[in-house]
Amino acid sequence: MSDDTTDQEYDEYEDDGVDMGAARGMRTDYCGELTPEDEGREVSVCGWVDRRREHGEKLAFIDLRDHTGVVQCVVDEKHDLRSEYVVRITGTIVVRPEGMENAFLDTGGIELRDCEVEILNRAEAPPFPMHSRQDVDETVRLRYRYVDMRRERMQRNLRYRALVQSAVRGAMEDQGFTEIETPLLIASTPEGARDFVVPSRQKPGEFYALPQSPQIFKQLCMVGGMDRYYQIAKCLRDEDLRADRQFEFAQLDAEASFVGQEEVIEFISYAISSATDAVRGVWPEEMPMMSWIDAMEYYGTDKPDTRFDMTLIELTPLFEGTEANVFKTECVKGITVDGGADEVGRNRIDELTEMCKRWGAKGLAWFRVGEDLVLDGGLTKFMTDDEQAGLIHMMGAKQGDLLLLQSGDRHLVRDVLGRLRLEIGKPPIDEGLAFLWVVDFPMFESINDNGDPVAAHHPFTMPHPDDVDYLVRGGGESLLKIRSQAYDLVLNGWELGSGSVRIHDPEIQKSVFAALGFSEEEAEDKFGFLLDAFRYGAPPHAGFAFGIDRLTALLLGEENIREVIAFPKTQSGSDPLTNAPTPIDDRHLTELGLRTLPPAE
Ligand code: AMO
Repeated sequence: MSDDTTDQEYDEYEDDGVDMGAARGMRTDYCGELTPEDEGREVSVCGWVDRRREHGEKLAFIDLRDHTGVVQCVVDEKHDLRSEYVVRITGTIVVRPEGMENAFLDTGGIELRDCEVEILNRAEAPPFPMHSRQDVDETVRLRYRYVDMRRERMQRNLRYRALVQSAVRGAMEDQGFTEIETPLLIASTPEGARDFVVPSRQKPGEFYALPQSPQIFKQLCMVGGMDRYYQIAKCLRDEDLRADRQFEFAQLDAEASFVGQEEVIEFISYAISSATDAVRGVWPEEMPMMSWIDAMEYYGTDKPDTRFDMTLIELTPLFEGTEANVFKTECVKGITVDGGADEVGRNRIDELTEMCKRWGAKGLAWFRVGEDLVLDGGLTKFMTDDEQAGLIHMMGAKQGDLLLLQSGDRHLVRDVLGRLRLEIGKPPIDEGLAFLWVVDFPMFESINDNGDPVAAHHPFTMPHPDDVDYLVRGGGESLLKIRSQAYDLVLNGWELGSGSVRIHDPEIQKSVFAALGFSEEEAEDKFGFLLDAFRYGAPPHAGFAFGIDRLTALLLGEENIREVIAFPKTQSGSDPLTNAPTPIDDRHLTELGLRTLPPAE
């Protein structure tokens, strides 16, 4: 835009593109925003040399790139312009002659002519090709993240991430939530992972924990009458990293007073839908609900991927009184692989059997359904005709299907078949979005080696009102029957978020701590401040948190949350760019009252 552009022209121009605001700095326009309507204008664009092509002896075509796109500039040869040089080019916009347009470029209808080039900075050759999605070793990408970030994928992902965050903020504020920041240097908040800790210089030998979540603080905000709190909170957990886990991650964290599960589900569904709409341009249909027990029985997991069926079919009654030893167990279930009789060969079945063994099973029972619905499989000789016919009937099997069965302890059968189902049926990550609310979680998920129950969500979750009386210390297996008021949101088989109605009564909170195996002194020592707060007028409250990284990755069809984080850690927890973690020097250690041991063998 030339200097004498009128305000009116400026407004019109801004209406069409990315808003640069009034402060345009060294440029008048963004590269990707120029169109044939700009014909004849003298413009200045800034960015990186994307590609350079010679044209005859005197001319070169430079593709100049900024975050909005690429524009072709015709430059005379005297400039030594190499890939990734930082330049400012001033030229006149010319509409390309018919037939010379570049259909692959958004700005392919125009080019910049009579260009004046200013080299703002030179650049070494980039450490990997800037174009195409060809596989570049991830450690190299992370080592040079600032170069990787210039490429289309990271540009897109980080900008969409910002859109997700802004949509979520907007949605929470629309619903009356106030953003409140909570501290990073705290006493431990248990969420089931290890804490990252920070040594205190002023109190040598003492440590702050970094928050695994703002859980306790948000509850204190409710006691403090803030009514509806939210925050996009950084959380830190020292746990093994996977595709959906980083040490540090962001949560939309929310809590509200005088509401229960139904309202929380409504608030969160609205926020998630706003983010989905911002990225995908569609408002999701109403999100279905499933009870935890159905999720476990039909999908073998509390985070079912409901984009495909292949549910676990209950076969236990069929084998009551069976002569086949392998089916004389607490539970038998199976999955039907549609058309799998031919598609799944013997080698693959052996491979699947090995997997089942690694997951803790004794093996894998399989049957091919042949002509006239005759079963073929090593175990048929131990089964009666009725059992075979019953199996076909119960599994809804037809000729050409493959039936895979597990028998044994109910927990194991569900778990192994649930994994097998995903191994065989899981569609690629970007095909559609299957949201699912999983409700009615149990209070405790298992009993640990000390005989204490393990909280299925966290110790601040309210038990089902009818089950409070069963909360007794040393209750053993019977504690596993206690229902809680906890709920999860699942998307395409990933746990997107969790929440619960909270305990606001100090007596119930004490019973839960006791059931979890905390002595009274331990509970007082760790959470006395919370129990205190509950004595000063705690309103009934409930809340939720979902992973921003996970949501963004799934909305963008990425399989690893590292792809939507600007500076993530590698799978082994290091940062190839800054080399973190690094040792600290002796002076610093002494100041903190610390001494390191030699690395463990
Ligand atoms: P929870 O522990 O289930 O609940 O965490 C909520 C959500 O945070 C995300 N998340 C992670 N994302 C990336 N890397 C990780 N290591 C990681 N750990 C968790 C997940 C998860 O569903 N305070 C409770 C919420 C509440 O009850 O309100 C909590 O933090 O998407």
